[in-house]
Amino acid sequence: MLVSREELRFDLGGARFDLERDRSLLTWIFSQSLFGEATGCYCGAALYTAPDIESATFLSRQALEEFAHFHNFLRIFRILGTRPRPPHPVMRFLTTHEKLWDHHVCLEMAVGEGLVLIAFDMLIEAFDDPDIKAILQAIADQECGHVRFGEQQTLKLLRERPRLRRQLLGRALISLAAMRLLGRHVQRWTPPGHPVMSRAPEFLEHAVRVTEMRLRRLGLLDRPLSELGRLERAGLMALGPAAAFFRGLVTSRKPRIPRNYLQDPVIDRVLGAGRPTPGEPPA
Ligand SMILES: [Fe+2]
Ligand SMILES: [Fe+2]
Repeated sequence: MLVSREELRFDLGGARFDLERDRSLLTWIFSQSLFGEATGCYCGAALYTAPDIESATFLSRQALEEFAHFHNFLRIFRILGTRPRPPHPVMRFLTTHEKLWDHHVCLEMAVGEGLVLIAFDMLIEAFDDPDIKAILQAIADQECGHVRFGEQQTLKLLRERPRLRRQLLGRALISLAAMRLLGRHVQRWTPPGHPVMSRAPEFLEHAVRVTEMRLRRLGLLDRPLSELGRLERAGLMALGPAAAFFRGLVTSRKPRIPRNYLQDPVIDRVLGAGRPTPGEPPA
């Protein structure tokens, strides 16, 4: 990953959740995660826009992993002894499926799953319960693969089409703003002085800093976020969704692979280049 696991880590200073005391709070937190995984399963929808067989194969495997994460979060609800609740509206907004391949790999995978990974790594530290810790650890390890794929695909796309930079950055800035909104909501109703939740504002700042680092390493951001003027920021945030909307209108709904599989790089890799394609067999 462009941002190492060590750089992602947020130091909770030994603060822990307590399963008894925090049952309702944890139910809320894991309800958001469960919803994230339920929508993550639909990464399979991106198969239609996947440019080649290798990336389509990755998405198919990822869909299975997201379903497994869904089941693993249900195991956490079993440990908590509660049922999940519906997600917060901001969570719904953050997990909207992207129709465009470049928006999918950059925003849903590199940025979105990158944010999820920061939260999961923090949660791993916030529990003493070995079962919850192990479940979260296994999920977070697989999320690293999803983030890495999103980053690699974004870098590749930006090399081929550098003009995508501004619209992708605009959408990433909106995700960060939405995350801040969710953070404010959480703060409003968490008990004052809670050992973990009282660190929420610092954690949010950390998540923004890590995302900024990722945006810079992806080449989407050429200077610190703080140096983006209000007007420039607003312009980018307007451009991102507008570009997604208008490009979505003209994007072909037909899957790409049945049209281009004979030129797919996997064919040369498996069969070797230079192998002849014989003509039609005699009638
Ligand atoms: Fe997941
Ligand atoms: Fe994922």
